[in-house]
Amino acid sequence: MTLYMIGLGLNDEKDISLKGLEAVKKCKTIYLEKYTSILHCDIKKLEELYGKKVIIADRDMVESKAEDTILKDAAETDTAFLVVGDVFGATTHTDLMIRARKNNIKIQIINNASILNAVGITGLELYKFGKTTSIVFPQENWMPQTPYDVLRENQKMNLHTLCLLDIKVAEPSSEDLKKGINKIQKPRFMKISEAIDYLTKIEQKRKENIFTPETLCIGCARLGSENPTIIAGKAKDLIEKDFGEPLHCLIIPGKLHFIEEEALKFL
Ligand SMILES: C[S@@+](CC[C@H](N)C(=O)[O-])C[C@H]1O[C@@H](n2cnc3c(N)ncnc32)[C@H](O)[C@@H]1O
Repeated sequence: MTLYMIGLGLNDEKDISLKGLEAVKKCKTIYLEKYTSILHCDIKKLEELYGKKVIIADRDMVESKAEDTILKDAAETDTAFLVVGDVFGATTHTDLMIRARKNNIKIQIINNASILNAVGITGLELYKFGKTTSIVFPQENWMPQTPYDVLRENQKMNLHTLCLLDIKVAEPSSEDLKKGINKIQKPRFMKISEAIDYLTKIEQKRKENIFTPETLCIGCARLGSENPTIIAGKAKDLIEKDFGEPLHCLIIPGKLHFIEEEALKFL
């Protein structure tokens, strides 16, 4: 029996590859990991296309209960584990793959487009991106400065920086889970303006001149969809822009090649 780990691509039900679709059709049980990214279509659309029910796999199921769910099914029957974007894009599912291998479950990976390569649409060379960083919603007394440090290190090497922005989906507390309550709260997706505000606040504390109102940024929203918004401009101007529906990410370019400069003029 095989665990098919399948990337769904970035936008809707139609972005799965033919190979991915064939695999899904073979599988008896289908899980969808939906906490690290979002699809821009209803799950019903997937179910209609596959002709099967899709089970939502939340973080708790993937990280703590896979042995009793996904891996148990995969040991008995062909099982699909669907991931929006690519299976190993940004947040990796290496742990699930390792656990499957330890349980002697055969694995097949079917890749797809990821935000990590979709940012090529800006005209920036993918080879010139440095470390990717994530910006999370700040909480009381908690505002990690890692994104600022990553930006500083990438800038030292003239590399571009991709900032992925936080997604908060409903996480039921352990008490809720004990009571069998799967709390549904309104999900939150960080906006480009919030990410710029975050980096600005760290700059105000650190004063290292890494991220100023004059810093060139590129905001990208809904890449891979029919209506992406991609705008390049100074941080002080981009913070005022409304990029619309999620998902958003922020790029801070490093040293630009003249072809990259030319491409940015179109944004
Ligand atoms: C963990 S990463 C995505 C991982 C996914 N498996 C992949 O390969 O693309 C999630 C973050 O990437 C960014 N992102 C993902 N898809 C996007 C899209 N279509 N347009 C803009 N940003 C996107 C957002 O900042 C989002 O919070």
